[in-house]
Amino acid sequence: MAKQRTKFVCQQCESQYPTSYGRCPNCGAWNSMVEVVEAPPAVAPAAMRGRGGSAPRALVAVETTNWARLSTGVGEFDRVLGSGLVPGSLVLLGGDPGIGKSTLLAQVCMGMADERRVLYVTGEESSEQIKMRAERLGPIPEGLFVLPEVELATIMGSIETMLPELVVIDSIQTMQLDDLTSSAGSVSQVRECATRLMHLAKRTHVPIFIVGHVTKEGTIAGPRVLEHIVDTVLYLEGERFHAYRLLRSVKNRFGSTNEVGVFEMGETGLREVLNPSEAFLSERGEAAPGSVVTVTVEGTRPLLVEIQALVSPTGFAMPRRTSTGFDLNRLFLLLAVLQKRVGLPLGNQDVYCNVVGGLKIGEPAADLAVALSVVSAFSDVPIAADIAAFGEVGLAGELRSVGSAQARLNEAARLGFSRAVVPATTARMLGKDAPIPVLGAATLTEALRHVMPQK
Ligand code: TYD
Ligand code: MG
Repeated sequence: MAKQRTKFVCQQCESQYPTSYGRCPNCGAWNSMVEVVEAPPAVAPAAMRGRGGSAPRALVAVETTNWARLSTGVGEFDRVLGSGLVPGSLVLLGGDPGIGKSTLLAQVCMGMADERRVLYVTGEESSEQIKMRAERLGPIPEGLFVLPEVELATIMGSIETMLPELVVIDSIQTMQLDDLTSSAGSVSQVRECATRLMHLAKRTHVPIFIVGHVTKEGTIAGPRVLEHIVDTVLYLEGERFHAYRLLRSVKNRFGSTNEVGVFEMGETGLREVLNPSEAFLSERGEAAPGSVVTVTVEGTRPLLVEIQALVSPTGFAMPRRTSTGFDLNRLFLLLAVLQKRVGLPLGNQDVYCNVVGGLKIGEPAADLAVALSVVSAFSDVPIAADIAAFGEVGLAGELRSVGSAQARLNEAARLGFSRAVVPATTARMLGKDAPIPVLGAATLTEALRHVMPQK
């Protein structure tokens, strides 16, 4: 038999080479090459080709069916999807292993299977394992079916005969099509499986969720490979050892993106957190040195979170700086600004920064609170507990305004904060509209004067 021709495909960027490289010449990923047999390109299934007539039509003449959105029974989940699930949509749920993707989707299935038929396809766990998890989550409804299978053609056959009202595929990386030569989890398998599921969803109007693990290893394709194929991309995020989980939508063909749902992992699955600011501040005590509350905007929703800093003399030649939940490079920058513009001698101090509750803050609005918490920790002077702070810090030590100021202040007012330190421009812009008194500051030094008059 003639030797089959093979090629090497990078599992990160999909570039192809005749030989293997330790590091992909295109994207620079290490150990990401997988050998695959060269096969003719996979074609769309016959049922898909020529669907709906290929002649051009005036857009006004195209009939649309107004499919009612389905409620998943989990309010926060519906909100992130854009007030419910659209029939025939393909939704990707990505996240780190062990973060709670299977738990969340099992809860959604159980919420929907009361009156409808729902199919949970698992390629990772046995039916018994699925049942054990479901028992933790509540009474198991009659309409919930489980299918332990990895062969996609078989799964698609079952979906077409059963026509359930919701399908979950857990996970896409375990699924495989026999007509492709590469192994399950490779870019080509993952992409082709998702494409077939997309066609199936559109043809049958069955909404399908697919689970995708975020992987650090190059040999298994991550959910990013699928983002352009699916209708909606959701990510479940959080620190593994913290209870809070954030469900974020990063792409949504049927709703707004950047919507965020907050959940808490408990003994009986994920619980919706309806009042996240309250939850994030629940363990905050009396004013302590190094603790400052900021208002961050996640999606469209303002959230109050506590920032903590600890500053202590270093025992090493190089001072140590660590950060949890806040970008480390941003912390370096703020420390340099504090040293240079405020004159804080941090050169021989270790600095630790922590966002309480396991939240990750991605926006610069938290700069001011981080800087204030470092000064407060360094001088061992607490900042009054009824003050919230937000604003971006520039390299010259100036404070710059950030978006959604009104919404941030409303949230702070709602939770009983009586003052807020904000950039001077924001204070001027709000004028009398501010729901609580604002202390405007043009520079970091001015902000410090507001909160630590004794300094
Ligand atoms: P899982 O949904 O299996 O994660 P993923 O599918 O994203 O890999 O859940 C993982 C963790 O959640 C596991 O460590 C156990 C925990 N867990 C709870 O704390 N409470 C529960 O009710 C359930 C079902 C799981
Ligand atoms: Mg799982």
